[in-house]
Amino acid sequence: MFCVVAASDGPQHPTSPHRARGADSGQAWLELAPDYERARTKEDSLDRLVEWPAQRDILGDVTGRSVLDLGCGNGGKLSELVRDGATDSVGVDISGNFLSAQLPGLELIQGDLSELDSVPGLAGRTFERILFLQSFGYAKDPVRTLQVARGMLADDGFILLTRTQPIRYALERAAKNGTSLGEEYFSTAQFSYVSGWNDEIALTKRPYTISDLINVFSAAGLWIESATEPQLSEDARRRYPHKQAWMNKNLGILIFKLRPHPGP
Ligand SMILES: C[S@@+](CC[C@H](N)C(=O)[O-])C[C@H]1O[C@@H](n2cnc3c(N)ncnc32)[C@H](O)[C@@H]1O
Repeated sequence: MFCVVAASDGPQHPTSPHRARGADSGQAWLELAPDYERARTKEDSLDRLVEWPAQRDILGDVTGRSVLDLGCGNGGKLSELVRDGATDSVGVDISGNFLSAQLPGLELIQGDLSELDSVPGLAGRTFERILFLQSFGYAKDPVRTLQVARGMLADDGFILLTRTQPIRYALERAAKNGTSLGEEYFSTAQFSYVSGWNDEIALTKRPYTISDLINVFSAAGLWIESATEPQLSEDARRRYPHKQAWMNKNLGILIFKLRPHPGP
């Protein structure tokens, strides 16, 4: 079977095929989720070597902090935060492919990050840390999703949001289509992308530029406290030269720490 998962960055028109495939996205992640988690937990996965250490570093001491992880995968990262002292924490993922171990202070809910208003268990709650770790691209209306998340931030809370460096996709498309980096980076046409997690499932993506991302944050009433582009440590470069070669070609991810502007 060959599935298409919709992932986008700009608000979707209700009649666009992209939005019409919204239901397929959840369905496809039901299949893709175990493959993703298998890849993520490999000794040399970039999530283990680069991404999670950088994300964890920005989160700092989570003792006594409540965390909402949107698109939490199997809940493994959030479980680690709860074991490190986070409390009253909730993970939401459309796949429902969750770890079976129960931890006090941790709740994992199957739900859609595009419909946060109607996720059971979130009504009226606030969190000190809200995470979108490689999941924000699945929001049907990114500004609205961020606005709702902003409304769930406790005083002095922040949002940690990561996205794949968009130049990577532009480079891949330029090589595939025989076009240039600039043509692909500034293209607005959706494209299909087969992830390394399962070559039978393609992701349909809408291209985004760095400006698009910044403008979405701004429109949602958020400002960027810091932005990071994490890289392999010296030690990891020596141990996993194939991963350094991958990073040299694909650049990695962008990490944003976002705070709400005061006011509505
Ligand atoms: C690339 S994985 C990232 C998982 C995890 N955040 C991590 O950093 O390892 C993307 C996750 O987003 C979830 N996802 C996709 N669409 C979603 C939606 N509409 N609502 C909630 N979760 C969604 C997928 O099921 C998957 O677990």
